[in-house]
Amino acid sequence: MSGFAGVRAWVFDAYGTLLDLGSAAARCPAVPEEKRAALSTLWREKQLQYTWLRSLQHRHADFAVVTEAALDYALEALGLSDPARHAALMALYRRLDPYPEVPDALAAIRARGLPTAVLSNGTPAMLAEAVAAAGIADRLDHLLSAEEAGVFKTDPRLYRLAVDRLGLHAAEIGFVSANGWDAWAGAAYGFRVVWCNRAGAPAERLPGRPAGVVRSLAALPALLAA
Ligand code: LAC
Repeated sequence: MSGFAGVRAWVFDAYGTLLDLGSAAARCPAVPEEKRAALSTLWREKQLQYTWLRSLQHRHADFAVVTEAALDYALEALGLSDPARHAALMALYRRLDPYPEVPDALAAIRARGLPTAVLSNGTPAMLAEAVAAAGIADRLDHLLSAEEAGVFKTDPRLYRLAVDRLGLHAAEIGFVSANGWDAWAGAAYGFRVVWCNRAGAPAERLPGRPAGVVRSLAALPALLAA
């Protein structure tokens, strides 16, 4: 019997899990090709740092503001500051590519009669635009935003939003994240977690332990059926 047999809904992280963060810089002609990977990496690092730091400081600003600030920093650090480039990258960020296996993975879960949701730092507007642009809006039953909790991951109040909105116990919720720190925190909260370890990263040294690990969401349906 599957270790996920008691799971009654599947909840996904958005950025890096369903949506390919590298696709913004990769599709931006205004960024020199040799700097695209470095820009993506630094932009993401600063974006996450700013969510954690603002949470520690109790100075919340929404994910759109944090993402813009992080991009500003990353562009300057790489000698790429320019208002038009900034605007182009933000527009691309709002419409990131989904990872190719995502639509089928969501459909496979739905075919098992289980609801699907996103639980993300993104604002409601960012999430709605992103899943529509990615063509997966009709495969998601709920979009749960950090703005509803007023705080970012990894504050347990944000994970609790899924419990409250789905009306399930934490242990009845399957949570999938490609971000190790998010996977570990979700497991520590009590979700049944699948870590989508796309990059082959080492395990986090944090409280919590994912119940399963896959390299891509293509492996998720088989894991659930096992
Ligand atoms: C999110 C970020 C953490 O979607 O990837 O919440």
